[in-house]
Amino acid sequence: MTRMKRREFLQRSATFAAGTMLIGPGTSGLSGSARSYRPGVGSITLNNGVKMPVLGFGTLYLTGDVGVQCVADAISLGYRLIDTAMIYGNEESVGGGIRKSGINRKELFVTSKVWVDDSGYEKAKKAFQTSLDKLGLDYLDLYLIHRPRGDVEGSWKAMEDLYEEGKIRVIGVSNFESGHLQDLMSYARIVPAVNQIESHAFFQQDKANDDLRKLDIQMEAWSPLAQGRNGHFTNETLAAIGMKYGKSNAQVSLRWHYQRGIVSIPRSSQKGHMEENLDIFDFELDDSDMKTIAALDLNVTQFPEWE
Ligand SMILES: NC(=O)c1ccc[n+]([C@@H]2O[C@H](COP(=O)([O-])OP(=O)(O)OC[C@H]3O[C@@H](n4cnc5c(N)ncnc54)[C@H](OP(=O)(O)O)[C@@H]3O)[C@@H](O)[C@H]2O)c1
Repeated sequence: MTRMKRREFLQRSATFAAGTMLIGPGTSGLSGSARSYRPGVGSITLNNGVKMPVLGFGTLYLTGDVGVQCVADAISLGYRLIDTAMIYGNEESVGGGIRKSGINRKELFVTSKVWVDDSGYEKAKKAFQTSLDKLGLDYLDLYLIHRPRGDVEGSWKAMEDLYEEGKIRVIGVSNFESGHLQDLMSYARIVPAVNQIESHAFFQQDKANDDLRKLDIQMEAWSPLAQGRNGHFTNETLAAIGMKYGKSNAQVSLRWHYQRGIVSIPRSSQKGHMEENLDIFDFELDDSDMKTIAALDLNVTQFPEWE
């Protein structure tokens, strides 16, 4: 994307909040250790008008008491989008972390996903209620079909009904390629608002992002830091760019996702990393940085075991 186009995109679809939306004790409704006056995370507007934070918190592998504490910490630091899934086995921990944070539920954007074994109309409806119960919530902000397997049509119809009943604010998919989306569009009453797919410096997914934009579907990047694979955190190219701005490899990557207009959901079990990953709204990668990062693309998944 050229600098101009990127700016247009950000102006069109994002509340570009660096330095404008302040999250602090006075505004967040948080109890505990919320710090005052940090630049807030902006949001993009999805195809149904709902706003989604541009940066969120991933919770894969964050289970039990650790999961509770990590989610509470993330919220206290300013994360508002929390991503979980039935298959992560941590929806109870995520719910516990939300309650521990003391935040007003309405300030959060909570995502969960229906797993393959629960595909089909009746099973997906039941799985949704189980996820809600485990989270201790009475609605979800975003519910996704986790993988395009099983009875996707039945699951989608269930999600459309739940959406129309007001139990889910946004419905979407995950790990869908173009063909899967075309199939879904052939019967869908409601166009998905989000497709959550693998994307990081080594598997960038530009073509997928372009295709999704044409359909007005927001791309959300899972494993935005490649889980550290392929030497992400010591990559010399990212480090050289980071040096110019006093930023880490993780921050360069997350800023790059943001400037491409992609929502990302980095995970961390460490408060320092959580904080670092939020601190990406006070610098801007230039065109040459963006081109240099584009050249890191290997265009191949770094998670072949999940294929
Ligand atoms: N839809 C899907 O199929 C799907 C698949 C995979 C993931 N997801 C979602 O996407 C989220 C993110 O992906 P992910 O968890 O696979 O990986 P990730 O966010 O790319 O990377 C997480 C790893 O990076 C480390 N890390 C985080 N911040 C760091 C920093 N500033 N400096 C150094 N290390 C840092 C973490 O270690 P520390 O804990 O030590 O910080 C952790 O080992 C998941 O948690 C999940 O919610 C969805």
